[in-house]
Amino acid sequence: MAAPFTVLIMAAGQGTRMRSDIPKVLHRVAGKSLVEWVADAARAAGAERVVAVVRPGDGVAQGLPDDVEVAEQREGEGTGAAVLAAREAVGSGPMVVLSGDQPLITAEQLEGLLAEHEREQARATLLTTDQLDPAGYGRIVRDSDGNVDRIFETKHTDGLTADELAVKEVNLGTYVFDAQTLFDALDNVGLEQGERYLTGVFPLIREEGGTIAAHMTDDADAALGINDRVGLMAADEAAQRRIIEGHARAGVTFLQPGTTRVEAGVTIGRDTTIAPGTVLEGTTAVGERCEIGPHTTVRDATIRDGATVMHSVVLEAEVGTDAKVGPFAYLRPGTVIGEGVKVGTFVEIKNSDIGAGAKVPHLSYLGDADVGEGSNLGASTITANYDGRKKHRTKLGKSVKTGIHTSLVAPLDVGDRAYTGAGSTINEDVPDGALGIGRAKQKNIEGYADRVEEDSQK
Ligand code: UD1
Ligand code: CA
Repeated sequence: MAAPFTVLIMAAGQGTRMRSDIPKVLHRVAGKSLVEWVADAARAAGAERVVAVVRPGDGVAQGLPDDVEVAEQREGEGTGAAVLAAREAVGSGPMVVLSGDQPLITAEQLEGLLAEHEREQARATLLTTDQLDPAGYGRIVRDSDGNVDRIFETKHTDGLTADELAVKEVNLGTYVFDAQTLFDALDNVGLEQGERYLTGVFPLIREEGGTIAAHMTDDADAALGINDRVGLMAADEAAQRRIIEGHARAGVTFLQPGTTRVEAGVTIGRDTTIAPGTVLEGTTAVGERCEIGPHTTVRDATIRDGATVMHSVVLEAEVGTDAKVGPFAYLRPGTVIGEGVKVGTFVEIKNSDIGAGAKVPHLSYLGDADVGEGSNLGASTITANYDGRKKHRTKLGKSVKTGIHTSLVAPLDVGDRAYTGAGSTINEDVPDGALGIGRAKQKNIEGYADRVEEDSQK
């Protein structure tokens, strides 16, 4: 069990290469902001406290989980200035420093880094890798003991030798420091190109005789730092792979994972199959033994066990156990589809409650409706829920059968076991067990075709 440690997340960089009005660390990978990914990894590694450094008023603090403390970087530029901004907030002891733009860092990597730090009795330990294209990264030179001799930046390559540029091991911007040692050293780091570089502390710590250790990782995905949108895409792809593989290991089948998108906050039960072109977003929870897709988007919705949803869009709605939705259904916010319900082709449902076993098979719009258990709505049953000023509810009882092309003009109450005639406009309540018909009576005009023919011969 490692000693208690604090995590500091440097999250105040402008990220100008993102070409964005949004601060870099609020950009999202698989539906979760970069800085949230980092904070979650810090928590998973067992951090006692997590402190994020932000710019005053940049909106980053509002996007953070509640248990993350905030320190403001009010002055200075660069990673060293970011750390100094947290001096008051952080005490002594081991401090992990993370970059807010390295979203796929894992708890395992942080644990490995802390273990190395303890084993080497180091003042500072860096996370490194030789699995990335090293261009632009700080490079590591180790001494004969394997400790870090020096780091040199390669953003500007002037004056660097071919041997130096051949160094493959790079600094990932993820460290453990003894906090006191770090702050003392930072006071003595000068400015380079107007910035105070955190990496400037290493020569100073070494001059004082402190050991600088390095922990190398092979996980190139976790090492990705994001500086532009190309990097953001790479991280998103890697995150998708990680998320989908995690669900697959837990018992979910993906028929064509490369075409499927599953955001970080989604849960999926075992023996569920996700077909091609499926997008699962936000806080969506999918149960066991479901079939989702092909070509289905589900956001912030609950799909219960055994349900089928194909070629459909489900937003902030609930689909009951063993229900069947689609193809081509649109379930909008506030909709609750009961157990065993069938919602069929070209059906839109908004803010409605569809009772167990009911069927809405074809071409319907239901808005603000309550449909009782076992009801069967004829093709093109439509609720007129809006009178131009206000929305009203339509209530259908249990086992109601509407004829095709029924218009239900709300507010309206149709009783249990009631029927409506095909083509009816129903704007008065229908009692239990009654048949409501509201349409013009049919009239047959005899001999009509003959008269048309006679007329045309005149
Ligand atoms: C840094 C390292 C480099 C390493 C690389 C790994 C330095 C000097 N260089 O370079 O050795 O190889 O990361 O990705 O540290 N930030 C602030 N306040 C600031 C500036 C930055 O909080 O004033 C934050 C940024 O939001 C970002 C992190 O610090 O999350 C890293 O900053 P960035 O400018 O991306 O550093 P790199 O140039 O990538
Ligand atoms: Ca960076």
